[in-house]
Amino acid sequence: MKIGLMGLGTVGKGVVHVINQNGDSIEKRIGEKIEIKKILVKDAEKKRSPLVEGKLVLDPMEILNDDEIDVVVEVMGKEHPALEYIKKALENGKSVVTANKEVIARHGKELIKLANEKKVSLLYEASVGGGIPIIRPLKQCLAANKIYEVKGILNGTTNYILSEMKDRGMSFEGVLKEAQQKGYAELDPTDDIEGFDAARKLAILCTLSFNKYVVPDDIYTKGISSISKEDIKYAQELGYTIKLIAYGKIYENEKLEAWVHPVMISKESPLNGVNGVYNAILIEGNAVGRLMFYGQGAGMMPTASAVVADIIDVVNHIPGKNGYEDADIIPIQDTVSKYYI
Ligand code: NDP
Ligand code: HSE
Repeated sequence: MKIGLMGLGTVGKGVVHVINQNGDSIEKRIGEKIEIKKILVKDAEKKRSPLVEGKLVLDPMEILNDDEIDVVVEVMGKEHPALEYIKKALENGKSVVTANKEVIARHGKELIKLANEKKVSLLYEASVGGGIPIIRPLKQCLAANKIYEVKGILNGTTNYILSEMKDRGMSFEGVLKEAQQKGYAELDPTDDIEGFDAARKLAILCTLSFNKYVVPDDIYTKGISSISKEDIKYAQELGYTIKLIAYGKIYENEKLEAWVHPVMISKESPLNGVNGVYNAILIEGNAVGRLMFYGQGAGMMPTASAVVADIIDVVNHIPGKNGYEDADIIPIQDTVSKYYI
C-alpha cells in the first residue's frame, strides 16, 4: 500500500513516526506493508528528518497523478488548496485520509458523494478530537441509536490556554505561544481562539449524530479572546471553571440548536476535570444512554494515531458509509445561549 503524504508539519511528522515505529506490527496485523512513497511540502529549504530523505516533492501532481499511490493523506491544513487536492485525488480513484476539519465541515457532503461515486474511501477520524476515536464510533458503533445531544470541549489549544491561565496564572499570550510551540494551534491561531475550529468540529459531530447537514457558518460562535485572568479568578471563587464549550441538540420537531462559546462549568460536570490539551465529548443516545469520550485533542502523536488508523481501514477495505451521504439540509433554530451545562 503506497501512500502520498501531503504535508509534513506537526501531524505529517507524526504519521511518518508512527509508520516508522509501528510499521512492522501493523504489517503483521493487516498483512500489508504501508509505505510512504512521496511527501508534498512547500518549503524545500527546511531541515527535515533523515526518515523522509528522497521522498519530498514540491509539485502536488507528482502525488495526485502517480498511479502507484493508492492513498493520499492530506495533512496540510487550510481550506485551499487542500480541497482541490482532495477532489483531484478522489477523481483519480485514490482513497483519501484527512485531518482537515475545515474542508470536511464545509465540503463533506460533495466530497463524500464523489468518493462514493468513485468507490473509494474518504476518512477523517483525526478531524475531531485529535486522538480520540469519535467519528468511527458515531458512524458505526452507535448507528443503532437516535442521538439527540452532543456537547464537549473540542479545541485543545483553548482548553490548554484556559487551564494554564487558571493553574499557573500565565498570561493569555504566554500560554498561546506555548500551545503553538507544542504544535497544538492552527497555522492561524485565530481559528482556535475565536472558536472557529471548535465550530467546524461541532458541525461534523452534529451532521454525523443527527443526520442533518450542519455547516460551521450556521453555528453561533464566540471564542475566548475576551476572557481575562480576572474572569477566571471570579469564576473560581463562585465554584466554576470557564471552558470553551461546543453544544448541539436536536429537538422533537427536528429543529437544531448549535453553538460554541465560553461557559461557566460547575464542579459536578464531568467536563470540569478536562484540562490542558485534553478534549472530551459527551453523547446521549436513546439506546446506549450517556457516553463520554476523552483524550488528547491535539498534538503530533495522538493525531497521527487517528490518521494511521484511517490508513489501516483503507488497507483493510473496511466497508461502510463515509458519513455524510444521507444528511438532510435543514435550518438551525435561533441559538439559545446557556451559561451553565
Ligand atoms: P502544520 O502547519 O504544522 O503543517 C502543514 C504542512 O503542510 C507543512 O509541512 C507545510 O509545508 C505543508 N503545506 C501547507 N500548505 C502547503 C501547500 N500549499 N503546498 C504544499 N505543502 C503545504 O499543520 P498541522 O500538522 O498542525 O495540521 C495539519 C492539519 O491537521 C490541519 O488541517 C489541522 O487542522 C489538522 N489537525 C492538526 C492537529 C494538531 O494537533 N496540530 C490535530 C488534529 C487535526 P512546509 O513544511 O514546507 O511548510
Ligand atoms: N488546533 C486544534 C486544537 C488542533 O487545538 O484543537 C486539533 O484539531
